[in-house]
Formats: sequence, C-alpha cells, structure tokens
Amino acid sequence: MTTNRKVLMLAGDGIGPEVMHEAARMIEWMNDYRGAAFEIQEGLCGGAAYDAHGTSLTDETLADAMAADAVLFGSVGGPKWDDVPRDERPEAGLLRLRKEMDLFANLRPATVFDALAEASTLKADVVSGLDLMIVRELTAGVYFGTPRGTDRLPDGTRRGFDTEVYTEPEIERVARVAFELARKRANKVHSVEKANVMESGVFWREIVTALHKAEYSDVELHHMYADNCAMQLVRQPKQFDVIVTNNLFGDVLSDCAAMLTGSLGMLPSASLGAPGEDGRRKALYEPVHGSAPDIAGQSLANPVAMMLSYSMMLRYSFDMAEEADLVEQAVENVLAGGLRTADIMQEKTAKVSTGVMGDAVLREMGKLDRQGDRRAANI
Ligand code: IPM
Ligand code: MN
Repeated sequence: MTTNRKVLMLAGDGIGPEVMHEAARMIEWMNDYRGAAFEIQEGLCGGAAYDAHGTSLTDETLADAMAADAVLFGSVGGPKWDDVPRDERPEAGLLRLRKEMDLFANLRPATVFDALAEASTLKADVVSGLDLMIVRELTAGVYFGTPRGTDRLPDGTRRGFDTEVYTEPEIERVARVAFELARKRANKVHSVEKANVMESGVFWREIVTALHKAEYSDVELHHMYADNCAMQLVRQPKQFDVIVTNNLFGDVLSDCAAMLTGSLGMLPSASLGAPGEDGRRKALYEPVHGSAPDIAGQSLANPVAMMLSYSMMLRYSFDMAEEADLVEQAVENVLAGGLRTADIMQEKTAKVSTGVMGDAVLREMGKLDRQGDRRAANI
C-alpha cells in the first residue's frame, strides 16, 4: 500500500537514535489509534552513514529524502569523526540535505511550558508564557557562500575565509514566510542583521523593507542588529513574536532562544521548502539540540524536542492540527505532572529516562484521546 504520508526517518548519531525511537513509537500510536497510515522508511545520515558507506549522505538516501512526504531527522556528529575529511564530516550530510531539498525556511519556535518556567536559567517572570518563532534562512549565507577555504598570501601568511552572500530572492522568500507566520500569530516581525557593518546586512534590510511596504504593511516590522537581538533575547524575550534572520545569526540566536525554555532538549524545528505544484512543501523536521555524544547511549536524553518536531510535521506537512495539539498537550501534561529528564530536573520532580518519558507521553496521549471520544459521544 502506498500512502501520501511517507516519512523518511534519519536518526543519525549520538542521542539521535534514542530520541528517534520515541518519535517512532508515537508514529505507531498514530497509525494504531488514529488510522494515520504513516509509512516509515529508515536511512542513515551523518557519522552512521560515513561508517557504513564512507560518505555522510549517499545519493540513494538523498533520493529517498526527495521522494518522501517528510523527513524526520535526529542529530549528527561526534568526536568519533573529528578526523574525517571535511567534505564527509557528519554535518556535511545534513547541510547537503538542506541544500538539495532547498529547505530555505527553518522555523524554530521557542515556547515555555508553564511547568518549566522555573527550569530556565532566567527568572521565571522573564520567560513565563514566552512564545516566539525564529525563522532562520537555511540554504544560503556563509554556510554555502563561495569562495571559502584557506590559502597563502604572497608574503607566505596563511589565511582562512568564508563568504556571506544573499541574493534578493533568497531574502525575499524567507521574509515572506516570516510575514505570513506573523499574520497568524501576534503580527510582529523583527528582521535581524548587522547593517551597521555588513554590506549584505544593508541589502537584507533593504529587501525586507521593500517587501513589507509592497505586501505586508499590516504587519508590525522592526529592524534590529544581531548583537542587540542576542541581548534582548535574555533581557526581555517576550517583546518578540517572529524573528527573521540569516543562516548564521539564526543558528546562534536559536540556541540562545532555546535556553530560555529551560533546555536545548525542548526545542523542535521545521525546515521547509517552497510549495511545489501540488501545494506541498518539501520538509525536514529535527530537534535543535545536537547529538550530545557525552550522554549518548545512557537513556538520559530528553525526547521532547524530537516529539515536538514530529508534532510540527503533523501540523505543517500533513494538516493534522488536532493530532499535533494532542502531542503537545500530552507533553505539557506530563511535564506538569512532574516527570523530568536530567536536563530539566528541578526540585520536587522525578528524574526519568528517555524511554520512561516516552511512555508517559504516549500514555497521556491515550488518555486525552479517550477523553475526546467521550466528549464527542456526549454531544
Ligand atoms: C543546527 C546545527 C547545524 C548548523 C550543524 C550541525 C551543522 O548547529 O542545526 O543548528 O550549524 O546549522
Ligand atoms: Mn545550531
């Protein structure tokens, strides 16, 4: 049987396989109890692919990703591959996927669950109720710009260099995603660059301003320098609704935003391409946290970011908002009930393993689902 819910699972390295296992159980649950008919295919990426095939992403796996309706991704990298040639490093597999699938819009939401407001390293009143969305450009900028490399100057001095470069359409299409998202949220966009020092930053601001004027003047737009944005994120994060920024600033600022929520282990992300002829976007969903090799294989990892990445998949790729709400509500209830993985431990909470956290969320989904049934039956 073929479905239009073909999901390619790339668990990757480190804690990737452990957290992916919990997402896989969730997908099974959706198939069993919601008749979701997800069809799962598994593949290798990152160090795992390098060990098996000598490359961090084979052409076959790339083709599978292109053919899938969505890709669910764990995490890649680790010290084991420190000496691997640059082009084959675990991260290169992920970057190639992003580029070849043209996943230019990376959505990184930072929301603080009530139960976790105290777990943040910031004061609870600074972060409680926080709900912001970083839209990170993901297929251009310094990550892919050329020339890049190292060379030797005529005087014998060696140097290393990268290129930050953005074309007008690259800026416009990601800004458009940000404005559209803002319209469905609090209607505010902060466009972040370093127009005070970078030519590409001046250009970024010019393009965003023009698009805003032409099509989105109903949305509140602010321009902010990236250094100020980093400071404002820890000073008063609730001033933000949607932040749109380039690949590199988005990488840095999203780690910062993630910590506001208590732990990197809480943050999901969606990487989206342009809508195709059938209206569907290519998409890849992954937790923002890395492969955390220091805790890999010990059942210590927090599976919540991976589970929430799956709920983003339900929402953005499959139009299954009700099921996405169910996952998110279940996570929220389990946290409110006091279960914690090591990264979000607080006083008077119970420390549990990756698998026990997964069990608890699945059990809660079942409970919520049955309550929903009962409510429907009473109508
Ligand atoms: C991320 C990661 C990646 C990035 C690495 C693993 C290449 O840090 O997704 O934020 O820098 O984009
Ligand atoms: Mn990062």
